[in-house]
Amino acid sequence: MQFIDIHGHYAWDVDDGIPSKEDAIKALEIAKENNITTIVATPHVIPGSHTLDEIHELKERIQELKQLAQKQNIKVFEGCELFLNHDCIDSIQEGLFIPIENTHYLLVEFDVRKELGSSHEVEDFLYEIEVKGLTPIIAHVERYFKDGIDIDRIQEFIDSGYVIQVNASSLLGIHGKTVKKNAYDLIDEGLAHVIASDTHRCEGHRIPRLQETFDLLSKKYDYQVLKTLMYDNPEHILHDENVEDIEVKTSFFKKLLKRR
Ligand SMILES: [Fe+2]
Repeated sequence: MQFIDIHGHYAWDVDDGIPSKEDAIKALEIAKENNITTIVATPHVIPGSHTLDEIHELKERIQELKQLAQKQNIKVFEGCELFLNHDCIDSIQEGLFIPIENTHYLLVEFDVRKELGSSHEVEDFLYEIEVKGLTPIIAHVERYFKDGIDIDRIQEFIDSGYVIQVNASSLLGIHGKTVKKNAYDLIDEGLAHVIASDTHRCEGHRIPRLQETFDLLSKKYDYQVLKTLMYDNPEHILHDENVEDIEVKTSFFKKLLKRR
């Protein structure tokens, strides 16, 4: 199967992602080996710390990445990962962000160091983004819950029309047991739309390991579920179409446990 990776810090020397052009070439080679045909370059954008010129520079670097990726026959589209803080609404007002190439989708992240807790500040930010005509894709949702996923809260995100993205690295266990369990729970409950790599490096754990992730998940989930998460929904996003919900078959035994 081929994969579309909508979240990765492949654009070099612009954030805490890939540090050099040489490393970007290596990361693209790994992406190629992993059957990734299309990537969206999503450098971090921190509201309050970027000027319009800097956003323009990010876009230029993504264009350079695009040229580089042609050799691997990988398509590159532009985007960013917008950090949601108190300045994010002003930033959006001022055009200090990059939606996923010519669509109304915007990849956003919360502070992974903080528990979401009872504060509904992020919901306020997401709502403001929505009223600006953008659809938030919430990056690595599994990483914001230190005591297990709050299913009702995720369902509310989905009911609001937001897209739920899970990191391949979380499913591979790179971010610890709780985050791994959260990631699987999201899929098991049918509350995930997209799996992406969130690539930061060309070696170590945070590389584009989508084939490895697919092979691992294939032992547990149907092909169609994985195709929706790793190809169809990313493609819908690039076409500016609505994403599909996944239908995960629950075993009879699990259903029985749930009823208790
Ligand atoms: Fe990221």
